[in-house]
Order: sequence, then C-alpha cells, then structure tokens
Amino acid sequence: MALDRFGRNIHYLRISLTDHCNLRCVYCMPEDMTFRPNAELMQDDEVILLTRLFASLGFDKIRLTGGEPTVRANIVDLVREIASTPGVRSLSMTTNGILLEKLARPLKEAGLQRVNISLDTLNPIRFKAITRWGSFDKVWAGIMAAEQAGLQPIKLNAVIVRGFNEEDVVPMARLSCTLPWQIRFIEMMPFGGATELQRQQVVTTQEMIRRIEAELGPLHPVNNGKLDGEARVFRLPDAVGEIGFIASVSMPFCAACTRARLTADGKLRLCLLREKEVDLLTPLRQGATLEDLRQIIINGIWHKPWGHGLAEGDFATNRTMSEIGG
Ligand code: GTP
Ligand code: 5AD
Ligand code: SF4
Repeated sequence: MALDRFGRNIHYLRISLTDHCNLRCVYCMPEDMTFRPNAELMQDDEVILLTRLFASLGFDKIRLTGGEPTVRANIVDLVREIASTPGVRSLSMTTNGILLEKLARPLKEAGLQRVNISLDTLNPIRFKAITRWGSFDKVWAGIMAAEQAGLQPIKLNAVIVRGFNEEDVVPMARLSCTLPWQIRFIEMMPFGGATELQRQQVVTTQEMIRRIEAELGPLHPVNNGKLDGEARVFRLPDAVGEIGFIASVSMPFCAACTRARLTADGKLRLCLLREKEVDLLTPLRQGATLEDLRQIIINGIWHKPWGHGLAEGDFATNRTMSEIGG
C-alpha cells in the first residue's frame, strides 16, 4: 500500500502513453504544438517495468491516457501486457474516440475493461471548432463500437468552455435519459499558459445544474451524493443513464485523492495541478535497481502535495494537459 503523509491510500495510477494527439482541442494545446521526440518517451518495456513496480506497491487501478493513447504504436500489445500484470484489477483508458471504431474490439480482447471518451458537443460544427479538425461522426462511431465491444460502462467527458459549448450542456445531459452512459461535465481547469483566459471561461457545476434542471427536471443524487472517483453523480427522472460533475475548480476533491500520474516521459507527477515531479525514467535508464526505483516511488508518494492551489491563484505551468493526461 502506498500512503502519503496525509494518510491517503494512493492506488490509482494514470499512465500517459504519449504526448501526441490526433486532435488539437482549443483548451488543451496550440494548433502548432511541438511534441517530444520518441526517444524521450517511455518505451514499451519501460512502461511495462514501471507498471509492474507500481502494481507491486498496491496500485490496482490503472488508466491509460495521453495525449491520445490510441495513437501509440503497439497499443493493443501494450494493453495486453498491462492487463496481465499481477495486482492490476482495473484497466481503463481515456480517449478522444477517433480510432475506437477500429480498436475497440481488439482492445477489449486484450484486456481493457472500460473507456471514458472525451466529447464536448453533439454539434458537428462546434465539434470541429473545438477540436480544430476532428469529425464528430468518427467519434460517435467509436462510441458505438466501444459499447458493442463491451467496454462498459461508457462515460463521456465534456469540458465546458464559455463561449464554445455551454449550449451543449442540456442536449448532452438529455442523452442520459435514453442511454446507459454516464455523461460527465468537467469544469475547465486553468492549465499551461492561458490561465487568465481560462479562469474567465470557467462554467461552474452550479451553473450547469441550473441549466439542466430548468429544462429537464430535478437531478437526484446517486450514491447519497458521495463522490464516485472525482465525480458527483446524479440521475434525471426515469433516466437510464447518469450525469456526473467534475468540479475541480468550484468544489475541489483533493481530500479524497487516490491518484498519481506517470507522464509520457517517465516522471511521477504527484498532483495534476502542482509542478512537483519525480524522475523515474532517467534512473531506470542509468541502471537503478528495482529496489532503488521502489524507494524513489514510495518517497515521492509520501510527499504528494495536499492538493491544488487554484483558489489562491497558484497554477502549474510547467506542462500542458496533453503531457500529463488529465
Ligand atoms: P473513472 O475511473 O471513470 O472514475 O475515471 P476518471 O474520472 O478518474 O478519469 P478521466 O480521465 O475520465 O478523468 C476525467 C477528468 O477528470 C480529467 O480530464 C480531469 O479533467 C479530471 N480529473 C481527473 N483526475 C483528476 C485529479 O486528480 N484532479 C483534478 N483536479 N481533476 C482530475
Ligand atoms: N480542464 C479540464 N479538463 C481538461 N481536459 C483537457 N484539458 C482540460 C482542462 N483544461 C480533459 C479532456 C479529457 C481529459 C483527459 O482531460 O477533455 O476528457
Ligand atoms: Fe488529487 Fe491534485 Fe487532483 Fe487534488 S488537484 S484531486 S490532489 S491530483
């Protein structure tokens, strides 16, 4: 078990498999984004070794992220290796869905259990504006393929950005009436350089709830209002699916945090929104023993920051979201 000094059991590892992405969402990265050279990224054997190490320390939940994890070469083989790692009980992926039409079935067969798919709008024109060139139809086909392959329950992640897609909150919430999915609305977090712009654009969970209830009726808390991971989950009257809110900015959930992150270049990132990181890849490449690496991880986790400092205006700027994977 990996405990931090606040007594939190850190057992959920989010592994960013690449900083590359086949989209350029406006809130995530610039259109002319430069990516890291492949040699700086963890290679397959390094990902597998580090996953085994984390699993041996009690990390039983693994989520693969990016950039876009499905653009990584050999993704299906890598998933197969990670899924068969002793101690890994839950293996899921966060993806933009573009390649799922082709990959959902092989990924499921390789041992992937679930996918969370980023989808910020149901309007194909707005989808293109947000992603810069993505095709809504491709993502929708990907979601259908994921469902048919049994990558369930499906969760959709919608980051709501003022001026872009707040009009989508109600139509997206309505999906939960007829589909057994969890539609999750995410408050945009200030990230990278564009912090002031992003702060002005935060659409709070309270505002989203008001919009949904005005149109679709009362939201009933699921699970007595307790957090499901970082989401507060609700249900509309007679709905088959659920609606979740990830209120990182207006209602931080750091006290219940169980997460650590491995960046695509092999750094242990202790909090999504704090700059503190511990390098694992360099010592690994310089011949550190497994025991050395284990100690580095245990030490790092112990010093995990309590939480983010958004309320105090403290923003991490050393990374883009695409390098950490959300
Ligand atoms: P589940 O296993 O389904 O609970 O997945 P998840 O919600 O942990 O993963 P996902 O990648 O779908 O996360 C959705 C969004 O939640 C991310 O894009 C972030 O915006 C936000 N998020 C996830 N983890 C954290 C966290 O530790 N801190 C903060 N502030 N936000 C987070
Ligand atoms: N704030 C909140 N969520 C974000 N994501 C990307 N950038 C941000 C941001 N600034 C989300 C994506 C995806 C997940 C991995 O991170 O939409 O669902
Ligand atoms: Fe955990 Fe940091 Fe996210 Fe808070 S901001 S929930 S401490 S990762």
